Amino acid sequence: MRQNIVAGNWKMNNTLEEGITLAKEVNAILVANKPNCKVVLGTPFIHITEAVKAVDSSVVGIAAQNCADKVSGAYTGEISAAMVKSTGAQYVILGHSERRAYYGETNASLKEKTDLALANDLTPIFCIGEVLEEREAEKHFDVVKTQIEEALFHLSADAFSKVVLAYEPVWAIGTGKTASPEQAQEIHAFIRQTLADKYGAEVADNTSILYGGSCKASNAKELFSNPDVDGGLIGGASLKAEDFHGIIAAF
Ligand code: PGA
Repeated sequence: MRQNIVAGNWKMNNTLEEGITLAKEVNAILVANKPNCKVVLGTPFIHITEAVKAVDSSVVGIAAQNCADKVSGAYTGEISAAMVKSTGAQYVILGHSERRAYYGETNASLKEKTDLALANDLTPIFCIGEVLEEREAEKHFDVVKTQIEEALFHLSADAFSKVVLAYEPVWAIGTGKTASPEQAQEIHAFIRQTLADKYGAEVADNTSILYGGSCKASNAKELFSNPDVDGGLIGGASLKAEDFHGIIAAF
């Protein structure tokens, strides 16, 4: 049941027109070269409806990059999980380190967002990862464990089995510095063991754990060949169809 997934995270890039052109380019490449993994595009909210129409849903899924921690109502500027679902998106990226750092997202608010995403039948791509000082102080294992425990471990095993995790060391995001394949495998194995301790080996084995942080065509194969690395969450290299396809083709 564990799926290999390559998910793009466009962040705050591309006008509507540019984004739909990119979605169509990615789709055309993948329709012609059937991928050996699930492919997802994480687009800005305003692109989602058009992006859903621009791709073949059997080949490319669409993700929002966030959703609100409230159901509905007077929350100006927010987008609810139900609204995301109504566009035809199937996934939502939650807890990206940029949202934690710049928009004050906490494990507590992410717990609410995760519940709402699942209640609306969206697959959360839930991001965890440490900053450089935490890695240097060798606290990275504790940091990711706490992120998982506080935001996700209230879920039943059944609910948790719908979650995809993305380990993204903050020091590797957009910096050109990638975790070595050994570093990635070490912490992915630790994450999977943490899941096994809570939910049992079967749930842990079936959970997709993606790596993110300066993943590109030239390093994807080495990263993805690790037994506990089930794909990637890709920022910069998802903004050009050829670059993104180079990563997908690692599978
Ligand atoms: P990057 O971003 O690939 O540009 O490092 C990854 C991410 O932030 O999801």
